[in-house]
Amino acid sequence: MKRLILIPVIALCALGCKNTSTTAMNRDFLQLAEDRYSVREFDSKAVGQDIVDKIIDAGMLAPTAVNSQPQKIYVVRSESGMEILRNVSPCMYGAPHCFILCYNADNVCPRGKNDHYGDIDVSIVITHMALEAANLGVGTCIVGYFDPARLSQEFGLPDNIHPVLLMPFGYPSKDCKPSERHSECRSLDEVVEYK
Ligand SMILES: Cc1cc2nc3c(=O)[nH]c(=O)nc-3n(C[C@H](O)[C@H](O)[C@H](O)COP(=O)(O)O)c2cc1C
Repeated sequence: MKRLILIPVIALCALGCKNTSTTAMNRDFLQLAEDRYSVREFDSKAVGQDIVDKIIDAGMLAPTAVNSQPQKIYVVRSESGMEILRNVSPCMYGAPHCFILCYNADNVCPRGKNDHYGDIDVSIVITHMALEAANLGVGTCIVGYFDPARLSQEFGLPDNIHPVLLMPFGYPSKDCKPSERHSECRSLDEVVEYK
């Protein structure tokens, strides 16, 4: 049954989907979601550009409000850039690289009169990226604890670009383990209700 479904998917991918790897298609999604955890201890080994490109592709495939794609993604790979990030956040955890996930205020979809979907869109984009990174053996940690004003100033970001989240990434150190919080789970009774 699974195979019957996969054949048209493979055909569709051959026709135009970007970079969908066989590994990704064969892996059970729930298993990938369970395996991903916040990595807070990194190896210094650099992540290759081909892998970085795939992680970005996953972000570009994310759904956004009316497909507005307001995300702006900075890839920090220089030592000087990482030094700035270590100064604006205590949560770089020795990572060799980091994504800065922002929204472009000129591209956001409005939500009512005074709001927009920028933060939500970026959150979905970063989730796609974190999951694809995990799929490729690359560790990530989504980080909200940073000083956005200082970051914008240090990197000279334009006024329309709003940093939302950071995502240090790299290969997990060999002793790295999920934190206890990773497996804490509220009961379904509390979280899910059928109406
Ligand atoms: C919006 C958001 C902000 C987060 N900010 C931080 C942060 O500033 N520092 C940090 O170490 N982890 C941060 N995390 C990671 C969470 O603490 C982590 O995802 C959670 O404890 C579950 O653990 P797990 O990712 O290992 O499953 C953040 C996660 C999210 C979704």
